[in-house]
Amino acid sequence: ALQDFARREKIDLTVVGPETPLVNGIVDEFKKEGLRIFGPDTRTALLEGSKVFAKELMREFGVPTADFEVFDDKDAALSFIRKKGAPIVIKADGLAAGKGVFVCATQQEAEKAIEEIMVKRAFGDSGNKVVIEECIQGEEVSIIAVSDGENLTPLASSQDHKRIFDHDKGPNTGGMGAYSPAPVANGERFVEAINKIMYPMIRGLKKKGMPHKGVLYAGIMINDTGMYVLEFNVRFGDPETQAILPRMKSDIIDLIEASIDGKLKDFKTKWDKRPCACVVASSGGYPGPYKKDKEIRGLDEAAELKDVFIFHAGTRKNRERYLTTGGRVLGITALGSNIEDALRTSYEAAGKIRFEGMYYRKDIGRRALCLGNQSSR
Ligand code: AMP
Ligand code: GLY
Repeated sequence: ALQDFARREKIDLTVVGPETPLVNGIVDEFKKEGLRIFGPDTRTALLEGSKVFAKELMREFGVPTADFEVFDDKDAALSFIRKKGAPIVIKADGLAAGKGVFVCATQQEAEKAIEEIMVKRAFGDSGNKVVIEECIQGEEVSIIAVSDGENLTPLASSQDHKRIFDHDKGPNTGGMGAYSPAPVANGERFVEAINKIMYPMIRGLKKKGMPHKGVLYAGIMINDTGMYVLEFNVRFGDPETQAILPRMKSDIIDLIEASIDGKLKDFKTKWDKRPCACVVASSGGYPGPYKKDKEIRGLDEAAELKDVFIFHAGTRKNRERYLTTGGRVLGITALGSNIEDALRTSYEAAGKIRFEGMYYRKDIGRRALCLGNQSSR
């Protein structure tokens, strides 16, 4: 249906947002038909589609990641957990809408996670295998780059806020807010991440005959002993991208075209030094069940504030009114002279918007404020 649509509407360029169509082969199919599309084909979309695939490649290419073992048998997994003890991290191999990772503080929690994934099969076939890995403490950062299969162009660093409640409490979500740059990935560390993580992946994949074209997104944990990849995604992060793109002075379309055409070698991006913050407004109840079709008010008023961008995620327009349609509804985003200023403006904009049940975290960027503001990318 999407192919027919792209042909009928003479779409020049398709950019794939979510991971499922990438893993299911939308890029392969569009290319076969001569339709221009940005994203990896199924071979490397597996970096996100299979944690086992990603971990084994990291091991092969010497990319730093938490120590791990792979299991397809429940009893073997349980006895490994008993041997290792807690804390420990259990991950379903396949896609699980961001819900397949269990960071377990106790052995009991870890055993429950195995039960959930391998016995109750909460994620279906995605739970045929699990990765069990060492739990790493530290500060998380996202490094997102665009690759043409051989070279890469890094975007600015960012940090996501995965939990639903303030102080990182409650269940994981798709992301409740972000800011860029992330002070934890300051100049030197940023370069280290590019050289030790991003390039070895891109070069290693090319060598194996499966060049990765599209986004490579590394979720990284940084602590005193070094940096460790927690996961790879093969699409733009949400809401990280909302906090990155307002800072990018180059045209994103030029970057995407250069990736598709294999011309990233000499591609230079220009960046606004000012930090950017994004606060996600969600429907009450998310990430659990929530109500839809609530009218959103105050959008124009909020958008009038200087350097504010309101990204629509779960909305639809009905005549002149905007209604909610999703869990994460809006990315309320602002540039500022420093991170504090960007946060203040985002929250000011958030304060002007209202819909029934509207919820947002009040502590986005708190950690960046603690860590200082010393990074330029
Ligand atoms: P993922 O779905 O792979 O992004 O993982 C979700 C979250 O789980 C990450 O953002 C981390 O906060 C956490 N996580 C994943 N792997 C580890 C690990 N080895 N040690 C500690 N936390 C982890
Ligand atoms: N915000 C995390 C993600 O896009 O996977």
